[in-house]
Amino acid sequence: MARKANGDPRRVPTLHPPFRTRRLELRWPSARLNEQVVRLLNDPVVTRWTLRIPSPYTARDAAEFVRRARAHRRSGRILSFQIVRRRDGALLGGAGIHGIDRSNGIGEIGYLIGRPYRGRGYATEAVGALVRVAFGPLGLHRVEARVFPGNSRSERVLRKQGFRREGRLREPVRKGGRSVDVIVYGRLRSDRAPVRRRRSASAGPGSAARTR
Ligand SMILES: CC(C)(COP(=O)(O)OP(=O)(O)OC[C@H]1O[C@@H](n2cnc3c(N)ncnc32)[C@H](O)[C@@H]1OP(=O)(O)O)[C@@H](O)C(=O)NCCC(=O)NCCS
Repeated sequence: MARKANGDPRRVPTLHPPFRTRRLELRWPSARLNEQVVRLLNDPVVTRWTLRIPSPYTARDAAEFVRRARAHRRSGRILSFQIVRRRDGALLGGAGIHGIDRSNGIGEIGYLIGRPYRGRGYATEAVGALVRVAFGPLGLHRVEARVFPGNSRSERVLRKQGFRREGRLREPVRKGGRSVDVIVYGRLRSDRAPVRRRRSASAGPGSAARTR
C-alpha cells in the first residue's frame, strides 16, 4: 500500500473512515452507540485483560470517551474506532492505534470484542484493518501490541496477523495495585504478510471452513 503520509511527520494525516473489511467497518466513535458500548464494556473479561478501561463502565465514561477520541485524533497521537458489523450495524467492539509517533514511524494497537461476538474471527479481521491503516495512510513502519501474560486468545489473534512475539517486559505497568509483566508483539511493514489460512474439512469435527 502506498505511503501516503510519508512527508512531514508533524502533519497529522487526514483519514477517511469507515475502514472496511469483508464483514466489518471501523468507524470514528459515535455517541449514538453509547448504550451498546456500556453493555459491552461491563464485562470482567475486558477488565481482566485491558489497562485503561474503567470498571464499572458508565454512560458518563462512554460520553467522555467519544469527546476525548475527537481531541486525540486531532492531535494525531491516538486513533480510536468502533467496530461495527456491516450486515446489521451491530456494535461488536472497539479498536485503536495509540502512542503514534510518526518521527519514529511507530504505533501500538489495542482491541476488544464484546462477549456475544467472540470466537468468530472478528478481532483478527479488525487487527488486519488497523495494520493496513498504520502501514497505509499513517505511513508507520512498525506496529506493536502489548498483551498481559495469560491472554492466549489475544496472542493468537496477533500471530494470525503476522505479529511476532518479541519478548516479555518485566513489570512495566501497574494493574490492580501491583506491577505486572507484559508480552510485546511487533510487526514491521517489511515483514511478510500473514498467510491466509483456510481450514480444511479434515481439520476436525465442527471446524467450518472460513477465511479472514
Ligand atoms: C482477545 C479478543 C479481542 C479476541 O476476540 P475474538 O473476536 O474472539 O478473536 P478471534 O475470533 O479473531 O480469534 C480468537 C482466537 O483465539 C483462539 N482461542 C480462543 N480461546 C482460546 C484460549 N483459551 N487459548 C488460546 N486460544 C484461544 C480461537 O480459537 C481463535 O483462534 P482460531 O481462529 O485459530 O481458532 C477478545 O477475547 C476480547 O475482547 N478479550 C477482552 C479484551 C482483550 O483481551 N483485548 C486484547 C488486549 S491485548
